[in-house]
Formats: sequence, C-alpha cells, structure tokens
Amino acid sequence: MDIRERKLIEKLEDKGTLSPDEYEQLIILRDDQALEMLGRLATRKRKAVFGDAVYTRGLIEISSICKNNCLYCGIRKDNSEAKRYRLSKEEICSCADEGYELGFRTFVLQGGEDAFFTDDVLCDIVASLKKAHPDCAVTLSMGERKRESYQALFDAGADRYLLRHETADHKHYELLHPKEMSFDNRMRCLHDLKDIGYQVGCGFMVGSPYQTPKTLAKDLVFIEQFKPDMCGIGPFIPHHNTPFRDEAKGSLELTLFLLSVIRLMLPDILLPATTALGTIDPKGREKGIMAGANVVMPNLSPVSVRKKYELYDNKICTGEESAQCRGCLEERIKMTGCRLVVDRGDSPRVKEK
Ligand code: 5AD
Ligand code: FES
Repeated sequence: MDIRERKLIEKLEDKGTLSPDEYEQLIILRDDQALEMLGRLATRKRKAVFGDAVYTRGLIEISSICKNNCLYCGIRKDNSEAKRYRLSKEEICSCADEGYELGFRTFVLQGGEDAFFTDDVLCDIVASLKKAHPDCAVTLSMGERKRESYQALFDAGADRYLLRHETADHKHYELLHPKEMSFDNRMRCLHDLKDIGYQVGCGFMVGSPYQTPKTLAKDLVFIEQFKPDMCGIGPFIPHHNTPFRDEAKGSLELTLFLLSVIRLMLPDILLPATTALGTIDPKGREKGIMAGANVVMPNLSPVSVRKKYELYDNKICTGEESAQCRGCLEERIKMTGCRLVVDRGDSPRVKEK
C-alpha cells in the first residue's frame, strides 16, 4: 500500500475526519490493501459501539407511481413500461403485521412521489401502524415534501425519514436529475427533517454517472457535517429503460471502501448493507457488514408486487416470501460473526421519543 494511503487511513481512524483534498486522495489511492485495512478498522469501530448486533428493518414498497423523472431510476415517470401499483392501507398494515411476527420492529414505508399519498392519507397509515405496534418505529421514505407535510407526519407518529441526497455536488445533482428538481430543495428537505426531530437518513449511489473522486469527497464532507443518523449507500445499477441504460454499474470494492470510511467518520451511524449491494455480488450484503455496515433492510412487500418496484435491473428477493428473506438474512449475518436482533435499532444518538 502507498505510504500516503496508510497515513490517511491512520489519520481518519484517529481523528474521524480528513480535509476534502485528503478524502479525494484517499479515494484516488485506493487499492486492495487499503480496502482490507479500512475494513478491519471499521469492523472494530462498529463492534465498539454496537457489539455484534445487526439491526433489521422491514421494507414495504407502498407505491411504484412517481411524478419524478430521475435519470437513473426505473420507476421514473417516463418509463412507460414500468408496472404501476399502489398498496392500500389494509395491505400495508397486513405486511407490517406479518413483519411483526417475524421479529421486525421497524417498518420502512418507501414509494415514489405518488400524489395519492396526501398528508391525510399517509398520516392515517402512520397512526394506524403506530397504534397496532406501539413498540415499533415507523420510517418514511417518500421523497421530497413540504415542511408542513413532514411536520404533520412526524406529529402522526413517524420516527424516521430516509431521503438520499444522491450527490453533494450541485452540478452532479443536475446531471442525475431533470431540471424540475433541484439540489437546493433536496437540501432544504433534509434540513427540515432534522430540524423537526426525525432520525434522518441521507445517502448516495456509488458509481453513478459523472461521479468523480472529487464529488465523492464532497459526499463524505457533507455526511461528516450533516451527521445523519443513517446513511444508505449502494452501487448504481443501470435500469434498461432509463437514459442511463448503457452506463457502467458501480463497483463492489468502492462501495465497501466507502462504507468503511463512513464508519470511521461516524462510529455510531446506522449503515445498511443494501439490496443493491446484494444484487451486484451474491455475498454483497455479508461483505458490507464486514466492511462496517450494521443494518439490513429485507423486503416485506407482497410478493405479487415485488417485481414491479424495479428501481434497477436484476433486483434480488423479488420472488421470495418475507419469511424466506428473514431466514436467509439471519443465516447470512451469522456467517459474518454478527447476529440479527429483534430491536427498533434507534440511533444511539437519539433518545426515544
Ligand atoms: N441503481 C441503484 N440505486 C438506485 N436508486 C434509484 N435508482 C437506482 C439505480 N438504478 C436508489 C436512489 C434512491 C433509492 C430509493 O434508490 O439512491 O434514493
Ligand atoms: Fe431475500 Fe435472501 S434476503 S432471499
């Protein structure tokens, strides 16, 4: 390993921070030994904070209808081949009931920006879920909304919100999104969510088109300063009916490398080993845990709709029942020397509401 690389890694481990230029250098100099060293240090940090616990969240994909046209995403509005569906309140609640029996204590409602889910509709669903399972956390991942909307959903009982920032570089953001969307609004949403009191998750795709070591360094600086409770990162995977169909997918190694870097920056962060990581490599999620991740988010959506929530090609777990995924993941996590726990898995930084 390059001596400069070793110095940077040691500094990161010691101080939990590097300058923007140093992050960029760290990424440029990256090699296999650096990946190995970072993985070792990151697992050690994760163990110091979380022991051998890996948290799990049940993901319920409530709508594949979206008004947006993000260039990377398979459920973008202009993908006329996409199969659209929306779950009813009853369907969502029964997915959660099944999840509860399986040991899930966090439910993540994720969907496109579907106008059907007004504040009234979504607040009613959140309140019903909280009433049925008062010991569970409800996480929303429903895109950009007005501050008042985030506030209403929080007041209805939502605990957490996931909204990936996608990239911390203004220009790069514009290359990934249509002109109707703006970096400034994305940042406004993230700051509103935090301000309101949500546990907040940001994140980005690794290897998205036009990403460079410089834009990645900006992502790391942003994450360090924003201090999210969670951070979702997974490889970009092209979807065959989007403008990015011919772009290269993101790399396993770079994703693992960045997971470790983020763990060293923010030792108590919740860091999922994502489905996208499991999609580009059969052992991707296990490798993610061994690089410092501590969360897995298996699918609880009804099997009948799973193939329709196609953000990218070849997504895994679209044919399996919820119980199968739960069992499968339990085994996979055991292989990493960790253990899947029945727990809400709140951020250690946040006191329970
Ligand atoms: N590849 C990987 N991740 C994707 N996402 C959307 N499209 C893709 C893709 N083609 C991610 C985005 C979004 C999250 C829900 O899924 O980062 O925020
Ligand atoms: Fe779904 Fe393994 S986690 S089949």
